[in-house]
Amino acid sequence: MTRKAILRGVGHYLPDRVVENAEMETMVDTTDAWIKSRSGIERRHFAAEGQLTSDLAIKAANAALEDAGFSADQIDAVVVATSTPDTTFPSVGTIVQGALGTQGFAFDVQAVCAGFVYAMSTANAFITSGQANRVLVIGAETFSRIMNWEDRTTCVLFGDGAGAVVLEGGDGDAGILSTDLNSDGQYRDLLYVDGGVSSTQTTGVLVMQGKEVFRHAVEKLAQTAETALEKAGLSSDDVDWIVPHQANSRIITRTAQKMGVSMDRVVMTVQDHGNTSAASIPLALSVAKSEGKFKPGQVIVMEAIGGGLAWGAVVLRL
Ligand code: UT7
Repeated sequence: MTRKAILRGVGHYLPDRVVENAEMETMVDTTDAWIKSRSGIERRHFAAEGQLTSDLAIKAANAALEDAGFSADQIDAVVVATSTPDTTFPSVGTIVQGALGTQGFAFDVQAVCAGFVYAMSTANAFITSGQANRVLVIGAETFSRIMNWEDRTTCVLFGDGAGAVVLEGGDGDAGILSTDLNSDGQYRDLLYVDGGVSSTQTTGVLVMQGKEVFRHAVEKLAQTAETALEKAGLSSDDVDWIVPHQANSRIITRTAQKMGVSMDRVVMTVQDHGNTSAASIPLALSVAKSEGKFKPGQVIVMEAIGGGLAWGAVVLRL
């Protein structure tokens, strides 16, 4: 039996402040009807002033640890997926480690909206190679801090939040069955932040060619999910749940259609969270678990795409 990374716990945290589409109407030239019909988003959460990405990550991590029944000192690696760290360095991972008292090592992975899939794949590699046994994988973002509030085509789409999972090495049928990672740097201008340490010495704001990203998403997400399933020796028929990156309900629906998976097997939280980038998949996982959706033995496919472009998928048996 080969060693696998088994899902032991899931948790999430959303900041208290909920911003409904109606409030967006007071901030930019937009309408609830446009946002809902083009993206599926109805509301999003924004972090409070002074509330940092690591604050959200720590709360989500504590919830996942509690769900797993582990104490922080039983964790030997922390991998945080984020593009909105508290500061340029140290990593959010080490801030979480310092706050919780986890053992071993901690660091960040930056693959924008595909970050959680990349972080899961990284954690899986540590576990299957024996370099770590219990890994906390977190997706945490404060995208509200990198919005251009003059650009109605992007600022209505994003939100803040964090989700976390605890993975543990073990034998048996359950665990991560396969991962598939891809990127293509020729598309870097489709989705980027126009500032940074080495270029402008400012944080910058998000810039997106939404239509183009949409086109790539629809094409590439089903492709990577199917490749990951093939690597696991499975097909779409074996999928109990798709837990997709939550950017746009139309992308989620079209990807499921392409894969031949009915919508009652797709977890959708974009209406309540907006696009929380690397946090969106673990947030959706945690919400679905708390609603009692998951059963032991079920197969989950997670898929995501974002800036880079970077995209990928993870197949997990519960
Ligand atoms: O998470 C990382 C990956 N990101 C994504 O997956 C996002 C991918 N893209 C999308 O989700 C969609 O492309 C958007 C939701 C961003 C936009 O939807 P769309 O159907 O592609 O709309 P569009 O950009 O073609 O805009 C259609 C119209 C335009 O007006 P005209 O030129 O047709 O007169 C826009 O000016 O909608 C207008 N528009 C708005 N109207 C009201 C754009 N933003 C807004 C707005 N409110 N907020």
